[in-house]
Amino acid sequence: MIKKYLGRLTISLVFSSVIFTTCKASPEQGKALYIQHGCWGCHGYEGQGGIAGPKLSPDPKPIDFYHGFVRYSSGAMPPYSEKILPKKDLIVIYEFLQSIPKGPDYKTIQILNN
Ligand code: HEC
Repeated sequence: MIKKYLGRLTISLVFSSVIFTTCKASPEQGKALYIQHGCWGCHGYEGQGGIAGPKLSPDPKPIDFYHGFVRYSSGAMPPYSEKILPKKDLIVIYEFLQSIPKGPDYKTIQILNN
């Protein structure tokens, strides 16, 4: 009897972990949220900065910094409360910023080395 339930439990645990892994947000979802929440307007579509805010990518600062700064910014950036920007959305935005690759080293670009 117990064995039967344990078997079912194992099967459902395996399935839920498979589902959980496949449901991980993609960088595209992060970009959509980044655009939806207006980050792009100041930090640029790729987080490159230079509009009204500094660059965020490549190599974003640690996620803990984001959880603090984005909530309590008191400078030129408006603070985003948990109500406006849920924690899970901020994490997905962060994953998008992390996924942006570094540009090539200028030394590998011929025209910049003449
Ligand atoms: C109205 C313009 C504006 C919008 C919209 C905006 N920011 Fe900013 N952001 C700024 C400015 C300006 C700064 C620098 C100001 C400061 O340091 O107080 C900044 C700084 C930051 C920093 C700190 C960067 C560093 O290296 O110190 C982070 C992280 C950040 N923004 C993330 C975001 C995210 C994520 C969003 C969207 C949810 C967002 N910002 C939306 C203007 C904006």
